[in-house]
Amino acid sequence: MSEPAPLLSTSRLRLRAFQPHDLAAFAAYRAHPEVARFQSWEPYSAEQSAAFVASQTGAAIPAAPGSWVQIGIALLATNELVGDCALCLNADEPRIAEIGITLAPQHQGQGYAAEALRGLLGYCFETLKLHRVVAVTDCLNEGSVRLLSGVGMRREAHFRRNIWFKGAWGDEYVYAALREEWPVAPR
Ligand SMILES: CC(C)(COP(=O)(O)OP(=O)(O)OC[C@H]1O[C@@H](n2cnc3c(N)ncnc32)[C@H](O)[C@@H]1OP(=O)(O)O)[C@@H](O)C(=O)NCCC(=O)NCCS
Repeated sequence: MSEPAPLLSTSRLRLRAFQPHDLAAFAAYRAHPEVARFQSWEPYSAEQSAAFVASQTGAAIPAAPGSWVQIGIALLATNELVGDCALCLNADEPRIAEIGITLAPQHQGQGYAAEALRGLLGYCFETLKLHRVVAVTDCLNEGSVRLLSGVGMRREAHFRRNIWFKGAWGDEYVYAALREEWPVAPR
């Protein structure tokens, strides 16, 4: 079966729907404790990963407001899955969306997350014509903090000890960008 058309391509990456052949790569990074450290989930078992990839294969992008969809990040050259973005339109106001991103450890630190996120923000503002995109991160997640400010999102909120997270109260930052601010000059 031929691959569905990608959502978008950047200079090195393709953002596209999940495919069954992504399972091995996805299961490897979703099982990694460091990847799960600042996420709402614990490391996945092989069975959880298989069920998750099956649920996302062929899923509509974007999903219905209020539901998350996972978008694969693949190398343009080989179509190898290196991570994923997540996108959720707000249930009450679907012109607002929340996004998230994960890169496999062996592919981190090469600018892929920033490249993918700029592509996703462009898709949200230029194709979906969204009004506002937000991202929430644990304040201790240095990579995520650096990434979100680096792609030009504004830090709008610092919620102190607002979430019971993996056994302790945690602080969160909310980052946002508006369509009229896009494209933003990189930091
Ligand atoms: C956060 C994450 C997506 C960053 O991915 P990445 O591919 O390494 O990011 P990039 O290479 O595009 O780097 C973006 C910026 O973040 C910085 N950065 C990346 N990881 C970092 C870390 N651990 N500590 C400090 N800075 C870091 C880079 O130096 C770069 O900064 P610059 O623009 O000033 O050069 C990745 O670390 C990850 O998947 N973490 C686990 C999942 C997660 O926590 N996701 C965020 C949930 S909100």
